[in-house]
Amino acid sequence: MEKPRVFITRRLALAPQSVLGAGIQVDQHDSEAALDRDELLRRVRHASALLPILGDRVDRELLDAAPRLRIVANHAVGCDNVDVPACTARGVWVTNTPDVLTDATADLTWALILALARRLREGERMIRAGEFRGWAPTMLLGRELRDRTLGVLGYGRIGRAVARRAEGFGMRVLFTARGGGVLFDELLEQSDVLSIHCPLNAETRHLIGAAELLRMKRGALLVNTARGPIVDEGALVAALESGHLGGAALDVFEQEPAVHPGLLARDDVVLLPHLGSATREARERMAHIALSQIERVLRGERPTTAVNELSRP
Ligand code: DGY
Repeated sequence: MEKPRVFITRRLALAPQSVLGAGIQVDQHDSEAALDRDELLRRVRHASALLPILGDRVDRELLDAAPRLRIVANHAVGCDNVDVPACTARGVWVTNTPDVLTDATADLTWALILALARRLREGERMIRAGEFRGWAPTMLLGRELRDRTLGVLGYGRIGRAVARRAEGFGMRVLFTARGGGVLFDELLEQSDVLSIHCPLNAETRHLIGAAELLRMKRGALLVNTARGPIVDEGALVAALESGHLGGAALDVFEQEPAVHPGLLARDDVVLLPHLGSATREARERMAHIALSQIERVLRGERPTTAVNELSRP
């Protein structure tokens, strides 16, 4: 009997065979480079399982190209790259990798908050440019976080982990989430640092636009480690240029991997290439979860991290 096939769209932090049983045939794009869309569509043709990363669009076109597909095991906690209702309609499981990247992403969020508040980027640049001429009482003064307000937009696992860390820095925390917290407008008006942790969906796309940025305190800092399109990047550049916003730190971008040119030259902006979950530990656990979900479904069992509900295993 022909073995079921899995197609893995990138190199992973784990060898797939260390998790998948010998009864599964592995086809992998074993590279960090993006996979061409046509090649993706071609290589899913005989796949019973797909392990995509967040840059791979899993839509009707892909599902049409992969008639044998039984599971999309997304290598991410966010599933905005996957058309989940379309998968459900075709009886395809969609799974994600919850919990295992919470601390890594919360830690990175704090690295960004501190980098902005203490002007790390400018200090680093000064040293490397050979411009550091010695300590001076007024050089590169940042701001303290104690007694300031951290606004957490989206209070899921990562938002809560970011909020917990705020206690150590003596910050007051406000949050807004579907199920509670303060009103969105109050969050915008009160936050000295606004950190975004909601999922990307039709409701949150451009949730932070020109009007919302204007509603924020003058000089406030914006941090986004969730998904780029939650922030209107053009409006963000305008708010920075006008001096209304004090700075922004972004790990994610509207048109990833492209970055709005207006952000690139600014000293009050810290930019990272989507490193939220980029620790060896988190990436190994993410790969392990995704591969285990495939193993379960191809064995005829129900997955344990499904984001959709199907009547059959
Ligand atoms: C996720 O899992 O959604 C993250 O963005 C990956 O780092």
